[in-house]
Amino acid sequence: MTLWHGRFEGTPSSELLAYTQSLSFDKRLAHDDVACSKAHVKGLAASGIISEEESLLLLSTLDQVEAELESGDFDFQYSDEDIHTAVERRVTELAGDTGAKLHTGRSRNDQVATDLRLFTKRELGSVCSRILDFQKLLLGLAESAEDVYLPGYTHLQKAQPVLLAHYFLAHGWALGRDFDRVVETIDRLDVSPLGAGALGGSSLPLDPDFVSAELGFGRRFENSLDAVSDRDFVAESLFDLALLGVHLSRIGEEIVLWSTEEFGYLRLDDAYSTGSSMLPQKKNPDIAELARGKSGRVIGSLTGFLATLKGLPLSYNRDLQEDKEPLFDALNQISLGISSLSGLLASASFDFSRMRRAADSPYLCAVDLAEWLVKRGVPFRQAHVIVGGLVRDSLERHVDLGELVEAHPQLGTEAAELLVPGVSVERRRSLGGSGVEAVYVQLENFRSLVLREEMQLQAVVKH
Ligand code: ARG
Repeated sequence: MTLWHGRFEGTPSSELLAYTQSLSFDKRLAHDDVACSKAHVKGLAASGIISEEESLLLLSTLDQVEAELESGDFDFQYSDEDIHTAVERRVTELAGDTGAKLHTGRSRNDQVATDLRLFTKRELGSVCSRILDFQKLLLGLAESAEDVYLPGYTHLQKAQPVLLAHYFLAHGWALGRDFDRVVETIDRLDVSPLGAGALGGSSLPLDPDFVSAELGFGRRFENSLDAVSDRDFVAESLFDLALLGVHLSRIGEEIVLWSTEEFGYLRLDDAYSTGSSMLPQKKNPDIAELARGKSGRVIGSLTGFLATLKGLPLSYNRDLQEDKEPLFDALNQISLGISSLSGLLASASFDFSRMRRAADSPYLCAVDLAEWLVKRGVPFRQAHVIVGGLVRDSLERHVDLGELVEAHPQLGTEAAELLVPGVSVERRRSLGGSGVEAVYVQLENFRSLVLREEMQLQAVVKH
């Protein structure tokens, strides 16, 4: 039986049921749907729309339904179009006429919006906690990297020696912005749509503030049309996850490069790498590749969902049912991605001496030579030309750059010492740069960020 059988003479076709159902995926909202119904029941009782006894019967029935859902005993039926229909059907089976009062003053339109906000709020809280764990791992790796340096790249060409700690923290700061974005998204989505009805509210004396507080939302909706149509929070969550996915992809790409024989900066643990079905010698970084690959899919979920929204008039339209699968999938992929990459990095072994050797080419210190000249009054453009000329000379004539520097009238022995391995990162001093002291300051600031995020996370989870 459908929820609208009073109005219809005929029954739904099998195509309609198959095409329009969402139960196969919105089952994931079962817990939130029951919570939403309980708050609604309490609201109906508080406003005198149902009696205290009816409220108690509905609440205990909802407890029973929740237990059936959790234990797997819930008997879903083919005609249960979605989780809301399934729960209401079962409540009515168990509580008879009182069960038939559950949907008073409510529509699936405000109900699904409420369920999905409850769900998203909780899931984003757990995304925050995963991000924070990953940042702590990066912090630990940065601390244990001490004064190890490796080549920093621009255009994937060796540029300057940078500290390995600086590298790890660079990813950590990007994740910090992801954390911030998710916290802000949680704050914006923290609005209860319950009481908006199908689109225009109700003639019954509902109390949207009461149910909002009951469900732990920060505030209630202001406009019922907006309340049932608004899926900004889904689009925002997808954007946050997509950008986080892009950051994971960048980490993945670096792991792919670093684990090649050519780079050789890291070796993957067996538990976090795969072999080849044909080539016995292979050890492949599949997790890192999938962190890269799956980010494309999450971007697709974001753009696909924006396309779903763009043609819709107010207010609820069935197209909105397409909000769930991209959101669920993005949450799954990103959560798994963070934990897999964390495990991979935590178990990988880094080849510090190989990193140092790769950065010990004197050419990587060319800008240090130019800046040495600047400190002696040479305009930077001229210094750049002088050092560039020496580099060209050294490469063309296969002469050691150090020898040319020593012999140069404006440079000499003191300048040549800048080319000694390790000197470059020691002498770099600008704040936020990759010098030893600056990175020490940065580590302190990153530790404070992690502490701040820990407090924010407690507030998010408690709320
Ligand atoms: N399954 C629907 C969804 O996810 C629930 C709302 C259905 N509302 C309606 N008027 N048909 O959006």
